[in-house]
Amino acid sequence: MAIRNRLTEILGIEHPVLLAPMDVVSGGRLAAAVSHAGGLGLVGGGYGDGDWIDREWALAGNARIGCGFITWSLAKHPALLDGVLAHQPAAVMLSFGDPRPFAPAIRAAGARLICQVQTAAQSREAVEAGADVIVAQGTEAGGHGQAESLFTLLPQVVDLCPATPVVAAGGIADGRGLAAAMTLGAEGVLMGTRFYASLEAAGHPEAKQRIVAAQGGQTVRSIVFDLSRRNRWPSPYTGRVRRNCHAERWLGREAELEARAEEVARDYAAARERGDFDVAAVIAGEASALIHDIPPAGEIVERVVAEAERLLAPRRYAAP
Ligand SMILES: Cc1cc2nc3c(=O)[nH]c(=O)nc-3n(C[C@H](O)[C@H](O)[C@H](O)COP(=O)(O)O)c2cc1C
Repeated sequence: MAIRNRLTEILGIEHPVLLAPMDVVSGGRLAAAVSHAGGLGLVGGGYGDGDWIDREWALAGNARIGCGFITWSLAKHPALLDGVLAHQPAAVMLSFGDPRPFAPAIRAAGARLICQVQTAAQSREAVEAGADVIVAQGTEAGGHGQAESLFTLLPQVVDLCPATPVVAAGGIADGRGLAAAMTLGAEGVLMGTRFYASLEAAGHPEAKQRIVAAQGGQTVRSIVFDLSRRNRWPSPYTGRVRRNCHAERWLGREAELEARAEEVARDYAAARERGDFDVAAVIAGEASALIHDIPPAGEIVERVVAEAERLLAPRRYAAP
């Protein structure tokens, strides 16, 4: 029983599985692997490096992929959007800011507009922007987000946006997550942390190992890593990362960290450079506790879909 719904139709995909645009971790190889497996790969638009995006697009070859932007950052470098639209992306995802100024150009270029939201109120803005797909992102998610958990946010967004397919994000790593999300009204999932621990992800091998080794409770949402890399996000966004020595040292002491920002940022950048993840953050979500291997991304898509299809099959609920 293949899952077919408005999402698979609108995005022209075989399986309702999207790769989250994870800054430089979601490069062209990973995006292409997810798309070739029947999902949709989204390259990370990051903070403004058009040359990087062009290189990753080339690496994706002939795969049908999209791109995701951090909206408040895109507003500072709007020409990046034109660069991406010139590649004829299947979709552009906007997260963390008002999508409305960018929506007309995206739709005029024939790309699908995906808006990631963290609150029910933001989902109304997404509908106003003409979103083709809305991603409801729970606080469990790796990377930046807000405070509401997916289990309560998702049905609110589904109820508020009946004409738009909703995708669930945050804490999903297997077919149980996809099946549960669909039961709550989603039509698919967007996964970041699960795909970070894949062969094609452009992350450091040690970072992938730390995701695999993580147990429950070993991630934390805060502003410590943004302050440490001098990349302050607008309130109320915070970033979820794997706990490490640096996080333990500074959590609860953010004002002091800010006062010593220059010195901390220097040490932090050097730690990133040498791959020292006791200091540099591994950006990852609560789903880390469900991840135990680093397979090819295509295998992740296959496993998630096969398990969800099994769980959602009607016979499971039939009377004996
Ligand atoms: C390493 C990492 C980097 C991320 N970078 C971005 C980003 O650049 N833009 C964005 O919209 N979301 C980003 N996210 C958040 C994802 O879009 C998505 O909401 C999240 O990964 C879903 O939760 P999960 O990690 O539990 O699957 C990032 C997530 C991770 C794990």
